[in-house]
Amino acid sequence: MKIFVDTAIIEEIKKAESWGILDGVTTNPSLIKKAVDSMEDISLEDYIVEILKTVDGPVSLEVAGSCYRDMVKEAKTLYDKFNDVNDNVVIKIPVNTYMEKGDDNFEGIRTIKTLSEEGIQVNCTLIMSSNQALMAAKAGAAYVSPFLGRIDDHLRHAMGLVKGEDYPKDIYYPEDIAQRVRDYKLMELLEDRTPDEVLYNDQEVMRIFDWGNDNGIYSGLDLIWSIQQIYEKYDFSTEVIAASIRNARQVRLCAEMGVDISTIPFNVIENMMVHYKTSEGMKAFCKDVVPEYREILKD
Ligand code: E4P
Repeated sequence: MKIFVDTAIIEEIKKAESWGILDGVTTNPSLIKKAVDSMEDISLEDYIVEILKTVDGPVSLEVAGSCYRDMVKEAKTLYDKFNDVNDNVVIKIPVNTYMEKGDDNFEGIRTIKTLSEEGIQVNCTLIMSSNQALMAAKAGAAYVSPFLGRIDDHLRHAMGLVKGEDYPKDIYYPEDIAQRVRDYKLMELLEDRTPDEVLYNDQEVMRIFDWGNDNGIYSGLDLIWSIQQIYEKYDFSTEVIAASIRNARQVRLCAEMGVDISTIPFNVIENMMVHYKTSEGMKAFCKDVVPEYREILKD
């Protein structure tokens, strides 16, 4: 599995690169905003050049516009300005830029088609459903980024598992437990009813069927699995980037599923290295080093 770091902060990118584990970088306007807040004495343009030079792998830069004309123009501007630096610019395009009633649903996908035909690699972002991923692959996206953490957040809220906005985002979403609760609720509802009573217009039963899933998707990881199934069946060359990752356990599960790429926040990459028993073992080994052995270790 390739590892991308999901940040625009240069110190984090440089550290990950120095560890020999970095295959690429993803940014978005919110991550650029965070980097700008921490930047000193350097223009944003020079800062982006430094990022591109630091990593010999794809670096995603996102457009800011939301209509076809603006996105194509901005993508070309970003590409022309920066791709010569290290030949590693990938343009991030939202799969769908619909925000208000009446907006066009297909501006993103049209943009992907145009850019891909012109040889500009696209990372199609904000993927929340397998159908969107299918459309993006057909339009020619080199990468798709399903947002697994945001799907888990959405399900948590829809199920009423979250009180208020402030909950620890790094907590693993236990899809299997949520489904057990759902099955239990269903059993309770179905008890003592005849099949006739459980027709599809039974609002309460349908509500429970819908509970804990988003159109048949049961978690962010489930979304990624579903996209992988589709891509494998039709031999799409589009690579899947597991995005919006919240914790190291999700990364492990992505790796077990054989996801092409995970783009991981820097603090989660750090957590991937931590284990209490490793620290305990280190302390014990250091304590046991005898002077004779220390002598041998000197040059
Ligand atoms: C990656 O390409 C996305 O920009 C990013 O993973 C979004 O993550 P978030 O849901 O934590 O903002």
